[in-house]
Amino acid sequence: MKKGRLAGRRVVITGASRGVGFQTATRFLAEGAKVIGVARNRANLARAARAFKAYGRQFQPVLADMASPAGVARVAGAVRRRWGALDVLLNNAAVNPGHAPLAGERDAAMESTLHINVLGPHRMTHALLPFLRKGKHPRVINVSSGAGSDESVSTGTNMSAYRLSKWCLNGLTKLWAAELKGKVSVIAMDPGWVKTDMGGPSAPDSPTMSAERALAIVLLPVSVTGTYQAGARMIPWVKTRRLTRK
Ligand SMILES: NC(=O)c1ccc[n+]([C@@H]2O[C@H](COP(=O)([O-])OP(=O)(O)OC[C@H]3O[C@@H](n4cnc5c(N)ncnc54)[C@H](OP(=O)(O)O)[C@@H]3O)[C@@H](O)[C@H]2O)c1
Repeated sequence: MKKGRLAGRRVVITGASRGVGFQTATRFLAEGAKVIGVARNRANLARAARAFKAYGRQFQPVLADMASPAGVARVAGAVRRRWGALDVLLNNAAVNPGHAPLAGERDAAMESTLHINVLGPHRMTHALLPFLRKGKHPRVINVSSGAGSDESVSTGTNMSAYRLSKWCLNGLTKLWAAELKGKVSVIAMDPGWVKTDMGGPSAPDSPTMSAERALAIVLLPVSVTGTYQAGARMIPWVKTRRLTRK
């Protein structure tokens, strides 16, 4: 068996083709995890799979759209066939449609953002629950954002669809955590403001920092649940953070 702090751990990462998800898959594979990596763009996912070629069957790409129940079912099917159990679900895939205030938000943008950023993680948790229940120290990590804090939705006048979606994701995290207490840990993670296609070039941090945060969360005792984490550090749900995206 491959050595490392995640040796043999079975992990699903959505949005594994780019940015935070790609770096987290890179980090987890190096620590010995087996990873199913999900994305919706065929070329992007194929590029990631090529980057992970040296890991052989340790990495499996699954092309699936997190906006659709069919996409979620495809991932669940892959988990059933490959492992029949799951240890970690990292709900990382998300979109940010832009800077609009609520009054300027297009209906289609609002709908797709909520589908991908909220319903996607909810359906994934629901569909993969039977496998998580059979997993070792099972944990769901929902990749949230400072944009989802109470303060952000109380004061924000731009990025409305995105803010709302992450605030809802935080609520979803608390609801699942309460329901699955003692069975599956459910945690929200702040990945920081990082240089990715979404974070933009002005972001102060790199996605490798987010990957370290994700690793630290996976390594927390499974009794830790219903919290908002920046790595091993717990942070308040009301937290303020500078919200700019150039
Ligand atoms: N970057 C930041 O500064 C920052 C700050 C706070 C929070 N976050 C959060 O961190 C997470 C990762 O962000 P990022 O910066 O890495 O974003 P990114 O660079 O834009 O990458 C997004 C990833 O999500 C995938 N994705 C998007 N929509 C999808 C869908 N419908 N189905 C399947 N996969 C989909 C993309 O796959 P394709 O290649 O197939 O499009 C891609 O792999 C997100 O939850 C984001 O909200 C980021």
